[in-house]
Amino acid sequence: MSLFRRKDIQAMLAEKQKGQQLAKVLGAFDLTLLGIGGVIGTGIFVLTGVAAAKYSGPGLIVSFILAGLACIFAALCYAEFATAVPVSGSVYTYSYATLGEIIAWIIGWDLMLEYLLTSSTVAVGWSGYFQKLLSGFGIHIPAVLSTSPGNPDVPGAIMNLPAALIILLITAMLARGIKESTKINNIMVLIKVSVVLLFIVVGVWYVEPANWTPFMPYGWSGVFSGAAFVFFAYIGFDAVATAAEEVRNPQRDMPIGIIASLLICTVLYIVVSAIMTGILPYKMLDDPAPISLVLQAVNQNWVAGFVSLGAILGLTTVLLVMLYGQTRVFFAMSRDGLLPKLFSQVHPRFQTPSKSTWIVGFIAAGMAAFVPLKQLADLANIGTLAAFTLISVGVIVMRRTQPDLPRSFRVPFVPLVPLLAAGSSIFLMVQLPAVTWQAFVIWLLIGLVVYFAYSRRHSTLNQRSNG
Ligand code: ALA
Repeated sequence: MSLFRRKDIQAMLAEKQKGQQLAKVLGAFDLTLLGIGGVIGTGIFVLTGVAAAKYSGPGLIVSFILAGLACIFAALCYAEFATAVPVSGSVYTYSYATLGEIIAWIIGWDLMLEYLLTSSTVAVGWSGYFQKLLSGFGIHIPAVLSTSPGNPDVPGAIMNLPAALIILLITAMLARGIKESTKINNIMVLIKVSVVLLFIVVGVWYVEPANWTPFMPYGWSGVFSGAAFVFFAYIGFDAVATAAEEVRNPQRDMPIGIIASLLICTVLYIVVSAIMTGILPYKMLDDPAPISLVLQAVNQNWVAGFVSLGAILGLTTVLLVMLYGQTRVFFAMSRDGLLPKLFSQVHPRFQTPSKSTWIVGFIAAGMAAFVPLKQLADLANIGTLAAFTLISVGVIVMRRTQPDLPRSFRVPFVPLVPLLAAGSSIFLMVQLPAVTWQAFVIWLLIGLVVYFAYSRRHSTLNQRSNG
């Protein structure tokens, strides 16, 4: 049964006080912008076009609503946990307190898929937009230095250098301090949201309702596959929950940050997809920069230029939030003994886990530079959805096992809402391709090997029960 040994929540809160402290500097506004920073990115700037052309047609709007609903149910569950257990590590920590060590380990392992894979994937998208911008100024990076090896179109490709460099730049920022990073994040997020609003305000005048028929050219199954695909666009709001120990008033601010950022993004996504599919027939949207594409189609070239710039900043903030989230999950896992102590050492002056930040940065940069990542976004989706499912079950369990634990936010209609969260997450997972499932299972098996070879023996719970 020791596989399912649980952390005591009170002990965890006490341990947090005793251990090395992170600086408490974030408020509700910072958290909301952190959430939006992590969410709006490749999903809307890159994937929407393919999703409309190949899966959903104009029914993309419905795909975004379905994926958004799954996220909103899950977000309510995150919010309850974030106020009951305001400790770093997000869903990993929550499940340690409710579902037991091995499940917590699996979730931590899944979150690596979410944060690390998303970082590398988004960096590759960033590199694409950045090169486009440079080429506008007549500067061209040689293809062998902007492509990962093994690409049949670019023989002799060495690495995707811009993708690696942007990750290392953000890593350097994060290693120096979260307050500085959030200031820069806030500015970039405001620009990114402005650019999306600009698209809406300009684009709405060019909508031809005739383009919305047929609404679901590939039927409901296309809309469902589209929902699983564009789920990627929502990944990131949960990173807000990893910031718990750096928030001044987590009981009040965490639910606001998580739910507000998700609601704002959901509304923007639905409106953008309605306008995009209204301007051009869905078949023409198969392009890695669909928003610029439709704007150019209606001769709004200067707006298209702004959108590209906004996309570059937008993707930068996604990277910032994802890399940040990964270091905080490692921080929590290391403090619990499941990962080496190195990952929870705090820099004496910067008050950040700077060594861990650099390790994460180098891994993500290496993957972005050398691994062809195109198909891996689905793997990030499945890892995140698995974490959503387990966290929803966790809310139901925590209501039974810890009914008196103070929580300033409570999920309404338990167990209905958590069950809807779990059900809709599993539904989206089922829509993902078989190859994604295979890779996911292999990843989990590797995780179990690491758990039994290292983490189980080094767990602080283990040491306590032996001593
Ligand atoms: N939601 C983030 C994006 O779309 C990961 O880029």
